[in-house]
Amino acid sequence: MRNLIIANWKMFYGPVKAGAWVRAFRRERLPKDLEISIAVPAVSLAAARASLGRATIPALAAQNSFWEKEGAYTGEISPSMLLEFGVSMCIVGHSERRTYLGETDEMVAKKAAALQKVGIVPVICVGETDVQRKKGQAKRVVKSQVTKAIADLKPDGRAPAVIAYEPIWAIGSGKPCSAVEAKEMHDVIRDVLEKAWGGRYRDEIRVIYGGSVTDRNIYEYVSTNGIDGALVGGASLDPRQFALLCRASTPA
Ligand code: PGA
Repeated sequence: MRNLIIANWKMFYGPVKAGAWVRAFRRERLPKDLEISIAVPAVSLAAARASLGRATIPALAAQNSFWEKEGAYTGEISPSMLLEFGVSMCIVGHSERRTYLGETDEMVAKKAAALQKVGIVPVICVGETDVQRKKGQAKRVVKSQVTKAIADLKPDGRAPAVIAYEPIWAIGSGKPCSAVEAKEMHDVIRDVLEKAWGGRYRDEIRVIYGGSVTDRNIYEYVSTNGIDGALVGGASLDPRQFALLCRASTPA
């Protein structure tokens, strides 16, 4: 299984800057044995696609989706609409959406299932807060988030889910979770997958880490058994820096 690195631009870069980012990134040297995806704002999908053309590196991802196909849901975007841009992955349940927009585990589950149904890989974000970790509740919280999020998913669909472990205290804080601690939580997540779907899927589903990943620490994560890649926010905003991070993820 190849490692997966996803750029999460969050609410940065409208169509003009998105096109420029993609053109700059495409000029960079990138490792062959790595899957790279960029999660761009919905309004920038068309521009990013236009700059990518038929190129599949990086693959195009979205940051959010609704669960219904169409209807009276003002402001929402459906998985089949994302598909029209050639989107192959979509982030769901990012902690920023859970915090600022009240996204619940049930909503995350519905979104993930709807995406999988049209063949888009749901990248399900889970993670505990600082307070929860300090109280010793981190594992319980993450276990519950994963169990609920995958409730309506199929393990071996054409778009197998990716789980992104993103401890909230590590996001954008410059205080990453150590690879050892991340691996510990990845094992907990794999226990949930095994319980839900059987032993075979323990290692077949990719579990990636997110939270203050940079070109300086990426290798520590991806060289750890059980960490299959990274979700990268801040360090993905500069195309050259993100390419450097991608290169740093493979042995020199
Ligand atoms: P960060 O964000 O890399 O800036 O910490 C990661 C994320 O929120 O996906």
